Amino acid sequence: ISRASFPKGFTFGTASAAYQYEGAVKEGGRGLTIWDTFAHTFGKISDGSNADVAVNQFHLYNEDIRLMKEMGMDAYRFSISWSRIYPNGTGKISQAGVDHYNNFINALVASGIEPYVTLYHWDLPQALEDKYQGWLSSQIINDFATYAETCFQEFGDRVKHWMTFNEPHTFAIQGYDLGFQAPGRCSILGHLFCKEGNSSTEPYIVGHNVLLAHGTATDIYRKMYKQKQNGIVGIAFDTFWYEPTTNSTEDIEAAGRAMEFNLGWFLDPLMFGDYPSSMRSRVGSRLPKISEAESTLLKGTLDFVGINHYTTWYATNSSTESFLNDSIADIGVLTLPFKDGKPIGDRANSIWLYIVPEGMRSLLNYVKTRYGNPLVIITENGMDDANNPFTSIKDALKDEKRIKYHNDYLTNVLAAIKEDGCNVKGYFAWSLLDNWEWAAGFSSRFGLYYVDYHDKLRRYAKDSVYWFKRFLAPN
Ligand code: GCO
Repeated sequence: ISRASFPKGFTFGTASAAYQYEGAVKEGGRGLTIWDTFAHTFGKISDGSNADVAVNQFHLYNEDIRLMKEMGMDAYRFSISWSRIYPNGTGKISQAGVDHYNNFINALVASGIEPYVTLYHWDLPQALEDKYQGWLSSQIINDFATYAETCFQEFGDRVKHWMTFNEPHTFAIQGYDLGFQAPGRCSILGHLFCKEGNSSTEPYIVGHNVLLAHGTATDIYRKMYKQKQNGIVGIAFDTFWYEPTTNSTEDIEAAGRAMEFNLGWFLDPLMFGDYPSSMRSRVGSRLPKISEAESTLLKGTLDFVGINHYTTWYATNSSTESFLNDSIADIGVLTLPFKDGKPIGDRANSIWLYIVPEGMRSLLNYVKTRYGNPLVIITENGMDDANNPFTSIKDALKDEKRIKYHNDYLTNVLAAIKEDGCNVKGYFAWSLLDNWEWAAGFSSRFGLYYVDYHDKLRRYAKDSVYWFKRFLAPN
């Protein structure tokens, strides 16, 4: 397969996120975020690192754009850090922050790389956490909308693809149930390193406020900017694919429920105007009601569905809570990456990431069938290697496993388009560079380019870069 196998106009790019890449956390007037606080709290990050410097894209972006260009990429997905635009979350705009992203976007456009912008990739201004507990308060809806509107206003002449949010399901669960991510809230005893919180209600409140923030921002875009700027607005959803462990009705239903509590939680309200009925019946009064006005606000506000997809797990009907992924006891599903002691696929470095390329095709067909074949962009797909201090750089650049991963997942994307008629228009590899992988710190390397953390953050092309280069070449 190569670029030529895909429909004309299909977009290829790489993806990133501000806190994982930028560094320069004290420069350009940037305000603190909940991830600065979390990363600097003892015990939260597996290797004790933080992203104060990250891979320094804040300063090295011209070089990074050249790396994208050399591969033949069409687009770059990155996120804007809210606290660079509004250091306190609200109030006064920081001109230095606006200038930075203007320069960055201009440099992309000048190189013929199209900017795809995420407005919220988890780095909430700490000031809003302190003021009203961030996503737990409905006050955040208008503050987010104001920030989003500022971005439309400042950058929308050049940015035509917006994602209001990245992975709302991940940050609702990891931040407010498992506590592995900022702001690190949860209440279930036995979950390591947890603070105060209520995991049976808070993730749902967070999810609800995120939905309304998306709806409000998108409404503003459509009424005030769309006509002139002519862009589209989506969300990047994290979603595993779930295979039933057996072909019993219970397990088949369990796999369906796992999808509903993962993707349907957000996509159903935006497509149909309400939460999935499985969620309403299982969560009951703890799930906020979507009023009629809210339903109208939400329904139909996605121009495209962003899909961050990496892996497939098994789903078994169960009353046991499952660890790491969907931990909310309400689902009644045990999800695991193996059965009868056998893994579902070859494992990458991350303990959750098993390589199951056909899961991509199944997932795309699920989205097509359940949601009426919406426009889909694969906003992330990739795998990591361990950051092994005993591996030489030369050996670390030989990443055949990553090449096979992208080849096989792309083959399934192509089959979903060509054979199944799925409406997929873009594919973004996670990630351009090795970078700071949240709670895993620098222990995990997802990049097409290797970054030398011991020598000025120098970038080196892995073999996968050359593979993409050939894949993307015009002929
Ligand atoms: C996301 C992802 C990325 C991760 C990637 C690998 O939210 O978009 O969490 O930020 O780095 O998925 O785990």
